[in-house]
Amino acid sequence: MFKERSYCGDISASNIGSTVELAGWVDRRRDHGGVIFVVLRDVSGTIQVVTDESTSPKQLQTAEKLRNEYCIAIKGAIRKREEANINPNIINGDIEVVAESIDILNESEVPPFMLDSRDHIHEEIRLKYRYLDLRREEMRDTMIARHRIMQATRSYLSNNRFIEIETPTLNKSTPEGARDFLVPSRINEGHFYALPQSPQLFKQILMVSGFDRYFNIVKCFRDEDLRNDRQPEFTQIDMELSFITPESIMKIIEGLLKEIVHAGIGKEIETSFPVITYKEAMDRFGKDAPDMRFGFELEDVTELLKDSEFKVFANSVKNGGVIKALPVDMGDKLSRKMIDEYTEWVKIFKAGGLPNFRYNEGNFEGGIAKFLSDSEKNALKEKLNLSGNCVVFFGCDKKKIVNDALGNLRIKIAKDLNIIDYSKLCFVWVIDFPLFEYDEDEKRYYAVHHPFTAPSAADIEKLDSLTPEIVETICSDAYDIVLNGSEIGGGSIRINKIDLQKKIFSILGISEEEAKEKFSFLLDALKYGAPPHGGLALGLDRIVMLLLNRESIRDVIAFPKTQKGQCMMSEAPSLVDKKQLRELSLKIVE
Ligand code: AMO
Repeated sequence: MFKERSYCGDISASNIGSTVELAGWVDRRRDHGGVIFVVLRDVSGTIQVVTDESTSPKQLQTAEKLRNEYCIAIKGAIRKREEANINPNIINGDIEVVAESIDILNESEVPPFMLDSRDHIHEEIRLKYRYLDLRREEMRDTMIARHRIMQATRSYLSNNRFIEIETPTLNKSTPEGARDFLVPSRINEGHFYALPQSPQLFKQILMVSGFDRYFNIVKCFRDEDLRNDRQPEFTQIDMELSFITPESIMKIIEGLLKEIVHAGIGKEIETSFPVITYKEAMDRFGKDAPDMRFGFELEDVTELLKDSEFKVFANSVKNGGVIKALPVDMGDKLSRKMIDEYTEWVKIFKAGGLPNFRYNEGNFEGGIAKFLSDSEKNALKEKLNLSGNCVVFFGCDKKKIVNDALGNLRIKIAKDLNIIDYSKLCFVWVIDFPLFEYDEDEKRYYAVHHPFTAPSAADIEKLDSLTPEIVETICSDAYDIVLNGSEIGGGSIRINKIDLQKKIFSILGISEEEAKEKFSFLLDALKYGAPPHGGLALGLDRIVMLLLNRESIRDVIAFPKTQKGQCMMSEAPSLVDKKQLRELSLKIVE
């Protein structure tokens, strides 16, 4: 029966007169007494099927039994709709199928939500009945766009001499900064595999093996706090290349992203994305993943205001802090109430307050204006380019707190003022990341990217006399690709010399024993002519989410986990049988 089946979305007016066989689900049914219209839906779209008392009485009887989401097969002839029934707003709106036969393949209970509802459907219900949710047009289009993106990726990378190689899922842990998901081994009592946080070490090993361009569309697992752009199980487009420079990697990735955008949403983008340093990103936007679709840039005004009569400024500078300003034009759109709300809101980022004033056609009004001297006002006017009506917000504290507070406030205000152009795609490379960060509490260094990232050649000597003061000045050969304020990918040139790798481990407090225990295979491999190499991994889910303007990463994954890491449909994770635990030599401690 299905052999010559056509797809609803493929049928057009050019098929008028021909007979087709279709199969799918009842999207809607309208009974006009004597005439029944059924909208049939399959993965490609919908088409109207008509049954009429005069021409097909038997089919009419079957059509009377149909309800939404019944699974049916139909056969019939395509004809042009009567003039009054033409709907120019939908594809196929000018044609219909006159049913010659209707088979009910399976009935359906009344769905727990209307599939064509424009109202908000509670996400938990959608996730519990994901098989129905995926029938909705929006979800179907998302899955198909995701598929096209993966196809385009495979084709582009294959055409550029990359070889797709799968890496193992049952692994030893890779240090990417999150917690591992562990899998107990039955036949190696007391031993555990870790699910990969990324295939980092394996792709480096593949470089040693001579596969000089590798890729892998791969599931990665990280046990970390979930957010709207994070899942415990997500997909990377993972790549690694030998004999390569950061610039050539960036060029290849730009070419890939061009193909991805085209495949996903049919848009053409210009490559040669802007490149900014980590320092510049933090200085201007307060974030290492800046959203550059709009202005409102931060300005460091420490020098200008460090002796201000406003003591909070002077005090925080004395304590080693900075003062930064966030000037927001369109001040007429910012009410007193909004400014008060922002003052409360920045506390999330540990900011003590949000000093501010309004600049209105040459006048400095409200807030801290009364504490500013004329020369400070003039200097601010010039430095911040003040004109018209604007509100200037300040952050004064440790650099990290100020950047966090103002960097996030900048985005919140842009959203509140509705100035973000959601059709824009702003890609930017962020380079020159610091190699390490120093953790004051733990009094130790951490790798900003991961421990296999190479320091910039110019900074290698600084490793010999490392202090917390100079750590910030040591750059790595790492680069992130950012789209509309989200990090969609990260990578680096790797260390391919064993001595340097050992040195980095020791700076990171990874003892020789631990390094041997965890990565001896990598250290061994580096001894056998490991080529210079580097790579990058793109977050596929985040890319699809941003391109399709979806609010949550869950909307672009067929079967995602909730914020609590649960699958609402299968109810994973779940308790397991005592027998299973016994086999694994595991005991649950209450
Ligand atoms: P990184 O940790 O930066 O690099 O990850 C690469 C990209 O993966 C995406 N990503 C996530 N997406 C959804 N949910 C998550 N929990 C999640 N975590 C990360 C992001 C990120 O940019 N091995 C290195 C890559 C390399 O150096 O080549 C790595 O994994 O978009």
